[in-house]
Amino acid sequence: LVKAVIFDLDGVIVSTDEYHYRAWKHIADDESIYFDREYNDRLRGVSRKESLDIILKNANRSYTLREKEELLLRKNDLYRKYLEELSHKDILPYVVRTIKMLKENGIKIAIGSSSKNAKFILSKLGLDDTFDAIIDGTMIEKSKPDPEVFLSASNLLQVNPNECVVVEDAIAGVESAQQAGMQVIGVGHAVIGTNITYKVENLRNIAEIIQEITEN
Ligand code: BG6
Ligand code: MG
Repeated sequence: LVKAVIFDLDGVIVSTDEYHYRAWKHIADDESIYFDREYNDRLRGVSRKESLDIILKNANRSYTLREKEELLLRKNDLYRKYLEELSHKDILPYVVRTIKMLKENGIKIAIGSSSKNAKFILSKLGLDDTFDAIIDGTMIEKSKPDPEVFLSASNLLQVNPNECVVVEDAIAGVESAQQAGMQVIGVGHAVIGTNITYKVENLRNIAEIIQEITEN
């Protein structure tokens, strides 16, 4: 039985994944560090700090703690400038319809995100009162692929992990959900190589998939 669906935010509800890429690309170019979209896919679902550590592996020198903190601030400033422009129109296709359908069927919905900007993004999208629970990067100790974020969400919803379905665009997020003992629906190109059963391009057929999971 499926009692709850936990959505990742960046790359599932809204294409902020593109803004993360542009902000990191800017930083990497400034520092003359190689970075491309393929690299960026490895940062999906990963915390800001850990993302920087991954990017800096390509640098030809080491960075002090202070330098790293400065880069993190710069990245977030650039990223927040993109976020300022967000509105209801930026919600990805089929998201609103999916949320409505789940609510009509008495299925609880939550956000499970590594982002510390999650609440700001949700308010920009006009989705602040939409979800039954939100767990974001400010509320967790360990970022995806650790299962903490999804376990905390199921806990807040008071639904057993095995009755939760996670919708994710990130490899780290898929691993996190699997470790939490939840079913996963993967969205987009980054999760194509993973061993999950359900992979979709967008949320169009989520209702049918949840029906199928329920019957299995
Ligand atoms: C995740 C994104 O949702 O949040 C990652 O997929 C990002 O790319 C992480 O690094 C942390 O986000 P923020 O907004 O706290 O920098
Ligand atoms: Mg994501």
